[in-house]
Amino acid sequence: MFVSKNLSVNGENHLMIGKNDAVGLAKKFGTPLYVMDEEIIRENCRVYKEAIDKYYDGNGLVLYANKAFCTAWTFRLTAEEGLGADVVSGGEIYTAKKAGFPMEKVYFHGNNKTRDELVMAVESGVGTVIVDNRYELDVLNDIARERGVKQKIMFRIKPGIDAHTHDFIRTGQIDSKFGVALENGEALEIYEIASKMENVIPDGLHCHIASQVFEVEPFCEAARVMMEFAAELKDKFAIEINELNLGGGFGTRYVPEDDPIPYDEYIKAVSEVVKETAAQRGIKMPFMLMEPGRSIVANAGVTLYTVGGVKDIKNIRKYVSVDGGMGDNPRYILYQAKYSSVVANRAGDAATDKVTIAGKCCESGDLIAEDIMLAQTKPGDILAVLTTGAYNYSMASNYNRIPRPAVVAVNGGEAKVVVRRETYEDIIRNDVF
Ligand code: LLP
Repeated sequence: MFVSKNLSVNGENHLMIGKNDAVGLAKKFGTPLYVMDEEIIRENCRVYKEAIDKYYDGNGLVLYANKAFCTAWTFRLTAEEGLGADVVSGGEIYTAKKAGFPMEKVYFHGNNKTRDELVMAVESGVGTVIVDNRYELDVLNDIARERGVKQKIMFRIKPGIDAHTHDFIRTGQIDSKFGVALENGEALEIYEIASKMENVIPDGLHCHIASQVFEVEPFCEAARVMMEFAAELKDKFAIEINELNLGGGFGTRYVPEDDPIPYDEYIKAVSEVVKETAAQRGIKMPFMLMEPGRSIVANAGVTLYTVGGVKDIKNIRKYVSVDGGMGDNPRYILYQAKYSSVVANRAGDAATDKVTIAGKCCESGDLIAEDIMLAQTKPGDILAVLTTGAYNYSMASNYNRIPRPAVVAVNGGEAKVVVRRETYEDIIRNDVF
């Protein structure tokens, strides 16, 4: 009935998130509220991990892409599940360190890491820096030399694959702010230069083709391209890569018509391509890394709101306004992303009303969903927006000086705050009065 399998309806006609009554959670912790189901996150981690064991002899590591949802809690959880971490900023490195995450399993991304961030990475013992460009390579080598260390690195490569949700094309996708290109020799050149540097250890290749992809073939194609490049490195410079990082991007179901492929299918298909190409080209099988973000956390999340005014503009549209909006979920205004919603206190009622869910920000485009079918709503109802675990909390803002919601983690029948609700004091914390 619902897009995520942990959701159901109880005898009171309330939405259940795992073993927790959503209406009860809203009452206890207030709204808007992000609810994350720990069991779902752990299960998602295990699907990937077990697939690497099964299809790639365990010769790999799943890195959780923290940009999807980054908290001390998730660092602890993913560490417990044996995952590594993809981080993209000093802030994410700082959180990892504070959470006690094993820093050698951290991979640091970004197309414009600052010098300070690189210093922080080296000094924090970040395992691998994924170098984006020549300037960064030089800066990093200097930082490592000054500290007498040798920093392990990989390179972000543009594999020339443009993956759309239901389609992909091979392009010379040189026009991207991320990484170095294959077709103009840039990638080959930077790898060779790095291999002669004293304080960096080039260890492999990375690519990331897109996000919310529902097909296996673009990932296979990317793996093929990367392995061919690895073979070229061997042929031309006798350089062997040890690690191949194929990024994230595996699609998640937001609305019933989304049809994601089971996540282990990606690993299976890609593993076959890597094994095949390695055998054909006489190169060794690299340690394989994957970086799922959305597919680890999206379906674990539900956002609960309280309905305020319901504005029925005859023959035009019915607006149901909630006490959050683009501040806690900017994905509609940014991407017109689709979500499934349910009235949590009448969760089993038929969706007979066509409505638009509006946020509370001073901006017309501040919507959560447009023209969707919902059960009849009235002020005071609890609205649940489903599958909000990825890129909601992590992209939240204080627009209009609205405090960010709390994050509550549920596990079995237990519920605990893992990120407390912002207060007005938090809002003015950096103002100089
Ligand atoms: N690795 C790299 C290098 C990435 O750039 C990304 C996402 C991932 C892994 C994780 O991809 P995922 O498995 O989550 O698709 N804000 C957008 C998504 C941006 C994704 C950016 N990179 C959204 O809300 O849809």
